[in-house]
Amino acid sequence: MRALVVYYSETGNTEKVARAIARGLGAEAVNVKDVKDVSEYDLLCVGTPVHYFGPAKPVLQFLDSLPSTPGKMGAAFCTFHNTGNEKTIQVVRRKLEEKGLTFLGGFSCKGQSRIVANIGPRVFNKGRPNEEDLRKAEDFGRSLSSHIKKS
Ligand SMILES: Cc1cc2nc3c(=O)[nH]c(=O)nc-3n(C[C@H](O)[C@H](O)[C@H](O)COP(=O)(O)O)c2cc1C
Repeated sequence: MRALVVYYSETGNTEKVARAIARGLGAEAVNVKDVKDVSEYDLLCVGTPVHYFGPAKPVLQFLDSLPSTPGKMGAAFCTFHNTGNEKTIQVVRRKLEEKGLTFLGGFSCKGQSRIVANIGPRVFNKGRPNEEDLRKAEDFGRSLSSHIKKS
């Protein structure tokens, strides 16, 4: 059984979480832009920043381009500023299920965001994902690996 963590990240938050999940899972983490063939993997764990309450465009494109692969497994994760994480996980879940993958679960945590508000640029969620977030992400990866071993 082989697993792959696929992620997109603009400012590094989702990449940090991807690497922590990959550590727990015992898998590689690959940027969605560098993914070529996923046919050899039995489990795909797909991560994205929340962009406008949903997955980022490159992740949506990746999910839409996936071949239909019944019998495989999927999972999702995201980082976000303050809202839209649950919906984002659900969108990734639905798209994986549309391709025949069995969904195992989702994980999300806050990410440091620099947002230009009406009072000027401000940093939110400073230092996130932090050590605790990354520990939970690694645990999530570990829980996925136990699903693989059971199946
Ligand atoms: C274009 C854009 C749209 C965003 N939309 C949302 C949003 O709807 N909800 C939210 O909580 N955060 C939103 N964010 C914040 C990001 O989800 C957050 O900073 C995330 O951790 C960035 O991950 P990254 O460092 O992997 O790119 C948005 C960020 C960008 C750049």
